[in-house]
Amino acid sequence: MTPNTSQPAPHKTGNQKTAKAQGAKSPATKDPNDWRTMWPSRTPEKSAPLLKALHILTRDGALNADSRRKLTQVLHLTQLLRPALETLLKDDGNPVLADVGAGKSYLGFILYDLIFGPAGRGSVVGIEARDKLVEASRELAAQSGFDRMSFIASPIAEATLDGGRADMVTALHACDTATDDAIRFALRHEAKVIALVPCCQAEVARLLDGQHGPMRQLWRHPIQRREFGAHVTNVIRGLVLEAHGYKIRVTELTGLEHSMKNELILAERHQRSNAQARGELNRLIDQLGVKPALLDVMAE
Ligand SMILES: C[S@@+](CC[C@H](N)C(=O)[O-])C[C@H]1O[C@@H](n2cnc3c(N)ncnc32)[C@H](O)[C@@H]1O
Repeated sequence: MTPNTSQPAPHKTGNQKTAKAQGAKSPATKDPNDWRTMWPSRTPEKSAPLLKALHILTRDGALNADSRRKLTQVLHLTQLLRPALETLLKDDGNPVLADVGAGKSYLGFILYDLIFGPAGRGSVVGIEARDKLVEASRELAAQSGFDRMSFIASPIAEATLDGGRADMVTALHACDTATDDAIRFALRHEAKVIALVPCCQAEVARLLDGQHGPMRQLWRHPIQRREFGAHVTNVIRGLVLEAHGYKIRVTELTGLEHSMKNELILAERHQRSNAQARGELNRLIDQLGVKPALLDVMAE
């Protein structure tokens, strides 16, 4: 991160004044409560109106507990996605990032502000089912002068981008099976990179209910069935992506104090398909005895 150089002078204590008078080095001046020390830009003030509009800063430009949590999360995610975005910018004149289940599109806005904007290339498309959120995002993009940002008001499953291509697809906390729609969308648009932070998941727990198999003790109790079902869902999502030729990395998004839905699946395509991963997926499905709807992509 680039250190901020335009911070307000800290209040001096009597000891500091004495130390300065004696010619000693002044102590570090970073204020951990100043968001500008965290914002990885040489001109953090330029981002302030956007961050206020996204409620990442309060109206008076400060952080509160909620906005600090959001800021930490988006900065961590930006840091994780930056290398892949920079590779896409290097390889391609104008990479397309689709953020699906975008909500208020804060991820798209921040990636544009920090990466595509300064690069002068790359476009972001936010896909969101709720019209009101899409209208608000269009307004904010216009106010911010982000002219390579656009929005589609549509369910993910029905959305198709112009040119049929998305280089990177992100889906952050897309509810339940909307993450699976994001995977289908990414495969349909031949995404080179996919970043998923799944949300709650109910489908597999429902399928496991009453399922008798050698591992039935793993899902006998409802609360364990729900947790196990969500875990298995993400394992299956990872294997589906690997079977389609992606290398995946599964990592923590932020500390659990920031969000309970905390798993990031980062997938980068390196081959057309992977027969070994397909075999592993089939074996797992046989052992569990359940077939989530996402397996439809394996038939293609
Ligand atoms: C929990 S919010 C997360 C929003 C945003 N990605 C974020 O992290 O702040 C999930 C969003 O996905 C949208 N959504 C859920 N299912 C969708 C679908 N099938 N198609 C499009 N949008 C969907 C919801 O309307 C909601 O705005």
